[in-house]
Amino acid sequence: MRIGVLTGGGDCPGLNAAIRAIVRKGVEHCGHEFVGYRDGWRGPLEADSRPLGVPEVRGILPRGGTILGSSRTNPFAEDGGVAKIAANLAQAGVDGLIAIGGEDTLRVAARLHEEEGIHVVGVPKTIDNDLNATDYTFGFDTAVNIAMEAIDRLHTTADSHHRVLIVEVMGRHAGWIAFHAGLAGGANVILIPEQRFDVERVCEFVGRRFESRYAPIIVVAEGAEPVGGVPEAGDDKLDAFGHVRLGGIAHWLEGEIERRTGKETRATVLGHVQRGGTPTAFDRVLATRFGLHAVDAVGSGRWGTMTALRGTDIQLVQLTEATAELKVVPEALFGEAEVFFG
Ligand code: F6P
Repeated sequence: MRIGVLTGGGDCPGLNAAIRAIVRKGVEHCGHEFVGYRDGWRGPLEADSRPLGVPEVRGILPRGGTILGSSRTNPFAEDGGVAKIAANLAQAGVDGLIAIGGEDTLRVAARLHEEEGIHVVGVPKTIDNDLNATDYTFGFDTAVNIAMEAIDRLHTTADSHHRVLIVEVMGRHAGWIAFHAGLAGGANVILIPEQRFDVERVCEFVGRRFESRYAPIIVVAEGAEPVGGVPEAGDDKLDAFGHVRLGGIAHWLEGEIERRTGKETRATVLGHVQRGGTPTAFDRVLATRFGLHAVDAVGSGRWGTMTALRGTDIQLVQLTEATAELKVVPEALFGEAEVFFG
């Protein structure tokens, strides 16, 4: 078979490990041929591809980013986009696609399969860990470790200067990174999009922390919102999937805390640092296993499915199930972190 591979949406550590596993197993054990589509759905839309054989995937296991490039192109938002993809795949003799992506990329994959009959197998990735139907996505563990290390470092400088330090992490609708990194890094307050926060209560935690000889560290997810009002968004640029570019909650909070408590407060926005660089062992192994199982799914004609981690097993789930709703941090789980607030 001739299979196209693409990586879409925000990149994350582990994408190259997944591509390598797909190609190594597919070529050496199953006799498939691969076409690497560039920049997510833009590749098949514009017939922009590159060779993807064993020599091309040598040495890429530990490398961050994606050798295929990525974009947030949405073929359903382009005039005649879906028909162009079908025609380009037929022209290139491509029998099916392995789409590696998050919520948006895999939602496109699900629709292409359901509505157009295009053969697609999905592989879930995102640092946000917000895809339903899989216990973890790769990229998440690396992002959490980067954020945890930042929190560890912020603790020592916050204590030296008796300052409140706020660290803003990614997480548009789900606070998984904030929750895990905050718990692992001993944050004094964690704020997530799933639960609106009360600024007065945050200031109480700040005051309580200063009663010890230590300074407070606040971890805030970029999508977190205060009770009674959304602060101004970073800017109002929308991407092809209609998402506003976030960022800015930490700086808003910085002003509020300083004004209400009189304590010097500074914000650090981790941003894309969380998505770059080499993957952790956990993410390399998960990405590799997802890649191997995606090739099995192709071989057995299980189109319209996605690889998923369930416990320690990799299973296949329907793409429609995986993309129907986001996986958010449950209230009871968040309660476990609240024990350490203040
Ligand atoms: O990959 C998802 C994500 O990490 C979100 O948490 C974040 O809002 C978004 O990517 C930002 O991505 P970009 O800056 O590439 O648009």
